[in-house]
Amino acid sequence: MASPKFYIRTYGCQMNERDSQIMAGQLQQMGYERADKETSADLIIVNTCAVRGSAEEHAFGYIGQLKQLKDEKPQMRLAVAGCMSQEPGTVAWLKKHASHVDLVFGTHNLHELPKLLDEVEQHDEMVVDVWKSAGEVVEHLPSQRAEGVQAFVNIIYGCDKFCTYCIVPFTRGKERSREVAAIVEEVQSLAREGYQDITVLGQNVNSYGHDLNPAVDLGDLLQELEKIDGVRWLRYTTSHPRDFSSRLIEVIAASEKITHHVHLPVQAGSNAILKRMNRKYTREHYLDLIDQVKRAIPDVTLTTDIIVGFPGETEEDFEQTLDLVRTVRYDAAFTFLYSPREGTPAARWEGRDPVPNPVKKERLNRLMELQYQISWEANQRLIGRTELVLIEGLSKKNPNVWAGRTQSNKVVLVARDPAEDLIDRFVPVKITEAKTFYLAGQVAGKPVSDVSPRRRVELPLV
Ligand code: SAH
Ligand code: SF4
Ligand code: F3S
Repeated sequence: MASPKFYIRTYGCQMNERDSQIMAGQLQQMGYERADKETSADLIIVNTCAVRGSAEEHAFGYIGQLKQLKDEKPQMRLAVAGCMSQEPGTVAWLKKHASHVDLVFGTHNLHELPKLLDEVEQHDEMVVDVWKSAGEVVEHLPSQRAEGVQAFVNIIYGCDKFCTYCIVPFTRGKERSREVAAIVEEVQSLAREGYQDITVLGQNVNSYGHDLNPAVDLGDLLQELEKIDGVRWLRYTTSHPRDFSSRLIEVIAASEKITHHVHLPVQAGSNAILKRMNRKYTREHYLDLIDQVKRAIPDVTLTTDIIVGFPGETEEDFEQTLDLVRTVRYDAAFTFLYSPREGTPAARWEGRDPVPNPVKKERLNRLMELQYQISWEANQRLIGRTELVLIEGLSKKNPNVWAGRTQSNKVVLVARDPAEDLIDRFVPVKITEAKTFYLAGQVAGKPVSDVSPRRRVELPLV
């Protein structure tokens, strides 16, 4: 008999990506194979994100679309997982509007997927198993990672920061750090398999280790990980400015492997708004931190997240955000319209979402226009420099061009010699052109890395 097939659709952040890999690993152990499209799957899992209303609408829309497939193939199973499952309203909504869903589970019990799928076969009605809080950290779960040489490694789960706009502490629970030894062992085994670009993950990696006995910090962990042979690039995401310590800056500056990319979400430039967001730092503290980073790491690439239209944001508050962006001169910024999230403190405030949508959008446009200009200028300074680029594949638009990334995560398009397969290799590239969202250049030497056993199947050479 042919193996059953699964298909996973993932929304949201890298933590969700990683969770999907763990679901896939468990399914593979149960004898499932990956389907390349929904129509050939026996099981579809929708791994959802709840961070903004738009993310939820996408997931609800997708679940709705799958009704037709379920009608055609009643034996197909449909599961909803991830952060939306952890929200109180979701199960009721699904029961009312999406009774074709067979299983709902959350972020705290993905390790129980085999048992839950078993339960689905024993019940006619929707099986719902969402834990309110997390249990102990579960180690040694199987996983099916992405192709290539890049790997994500969880180091801390949950978030205790409770920014007033944010749903994540409710969907991901309290902070729980993994033991250093478990992380080191995982990265050692990844390096042996040929992974060279390692990103350690957490909603707030800067709180890593405070709950361990003895307590350690992110700097200690990164120093252990950079000792591992075979690891070429070491990244961490996401950081919170409040816990981003001087010691961590020193560790990054002194390291050969920790990438010189600092993503430091600021969210807003006005102290009044930062206070209402419960970010627990001031504009002055943040700018001071950025100064320290720039002094210690002169070639740093800086990026950030900004929310526009938070409740109470006045034109003056917003101008302070613009002013901060002009001062810091980020390489790039991820900008979001404020979206009230049920269950968060800000959504309970009077007026709920008081900044009118057209005002929010107009501010967002001004912010993006400013940031695009700065990104363009920041990229110009790279022209003429030789950067190490990890080649990820062919450019989608032009098969005569490779697409890759620098250690600071900038996209680089590289002229391709069809006789050479550089996929998943680290190659020196001389930058010849710089745009707002990407760089372009030419191979300027031999790949610095050996061919990894993880290298993807060679392309047909033309
Ligand atoms: N832990 C990370 C962020 C997780 S969410 C951190 O603290 O940086 C990613 C980004 O989504 C946040 O940085 C914030 O800019 C944005 N975001 C979170 N909640 C939001 C909301 N309710 N409305 C709009 N943007 C939001
Ligand atoms: Fe959300 Fe704030 Fe935690 Fe980031 S630090 S996940 S924005 S509560
Ligand atoms: Fe979204 Fe959950 Fe990540 S809300 S951003 S998938 S932690």
